[in-house]
Amino acid sequence: MSTLLITGADLAGSGAQDLLVEDGVITRVGSIGSAGGAEVLEADGLVALPGLVDLHTHLREPGREDAETIASGSAAAAVGGFTAVLAMANTNPVTDTAEAAERVLDLGRAAGLVDVQPVGAVTKGLAGEELAELGLMHRSRARVKVFSDDGKCVHDARVMRRALEYVRAFRGVVSQHAQDPHLAGSSACCHEGELSGRLGLPGWPGIAEETIVARDVMLARHTGSRVHVAHVSTAGSVEVVRWAKAQGIDVTAEVTPHHLVLTTDLLAGYDPTFKVNPPLRPQEDVDALRAALADGTIDAVATDHAPHARHDKEHAFVDAAFGMLGLETALSVVSDTMVRTGLLDWAGVARVMSSNPARIAGLEGHGRPLTVGSPANLTLVDPDARVTVDRSASLSLSRNNPWHGRSLQGAVEATVLRGTVTARKGALA
Ligand code: DOR
Ligand code: ZN
Repeated sequence: MSTLLITGADLAGSGAQDLLVEDGVITRVGSIGSAGGAEVLEADGLVALPGLVDLHTHLREPGREDAETIASGSAAAAVGGFTAVLAMANTNPVTDTAEAAERVLDLGRAAGLVDVQPVGAVTKGLAGEELAELGLMHRSRARVKVFSDDGKCVHDARVMRRALEYVRAFRGVVSQHAQDPHLAGSSACCHEGELSGRLGLPGWPGIAEETIVARDVMLARHTGSRVHVAHVSTAGSVEVVRWAKAQGIDVTAEVTPHHLVLTTDLLAGYDPTFKVNPPLRPQEDVDALRAALADGTIDAVATDHAPHARHDKEHAFVDAAFGMLGLETALSVVSDTMVRTGLLDWAGVARVMSSNPARIAGLEGHGRPLTVGSPANLTLVDPDARVTVDRSASLSLSRNNPWHGRSLQGAVEATVLRGTVTARKGALA
């Protein structure tokens, strides 16, 4: 039997306790003191959270193993405090069949650092036309419950309606990248506003996101099914989600760490590190997103970790790939932005980074309270540590890190997956 004793951890802000883990399960909580032969993890002064769960990770395998592999992305996730990640379907080939989903699952298990749960594509090849094998993916060993064409919007309302009807049967969910392609030109690459005009960059208006969110919550109501809004980026989308929840519509939403902090002003230097889809928005949107995360309108933080190789990112702004790294910095960004400012307490962080995403994704072993009988998936955080982000220290294969050089308060100290320490102080254990 393997035994792990975690001493003196503050359980999501509710007081210091010891935790005994036997064979991957929490078997005692309280004042334990010592346990003969157990591996000991001293956690005095640290906050213990249920293991973080990321609803939105791009791992690039198969197809772009130069940018990230399932193993390298899993390592970055473990160091970032995650015990489970949902791997987006926009790989090459796309995860649109049962076999493809099982392959992602198996590669995740082989890496063995976090639970890698494949997201299935909504449409074949992400082409937006024909539904992918939703039922077969769900019935496969991968038990896919979350479907998304992320990177692209399921923009045909008829296709979206069918997908919602289909997943309703097994309580699946469609995670929508809300962006009407007809309201945003195909060359759009930043927020449409005064600045984009000055910079001469074609922009996406917030309304391109908001109209799809509004349409989709109505489709969710009509079908009695469940929709999740990926990376909400505007105050208007927040308003729609708030309204829909008040009506009892089954909608959930996520926000990325970058949309909680970074604004469109960063584009003034044309640095493609800050090119992301949906784009960075003005401060008013950032403020609305923070408030919505604090009041529960937005359910979860999801990274949209989007690694890109140098030769795809280091281009003129208009030609560079969309996306930024996020797994290793997410907890520090949320701590610095939401906890240090008093917008969320640690129980709130546990909710938005673990229990809510686990519930949305239907991941049973994750997001559980740190009580006797729960699987020992947990993250230890030093709330007072100051970190200066260094992109060269990353375990990701890519370097498109928008946080490079920033000082943030709060850091992951250790990650435990079913009783096994997977990472400590920024390195694999
Ligand atoms: O910035 C982004 N990058 N947004 C997306 O929706 C897709 C992602 C990617 O796959 O690179
Ligand atoms: Zn997306």
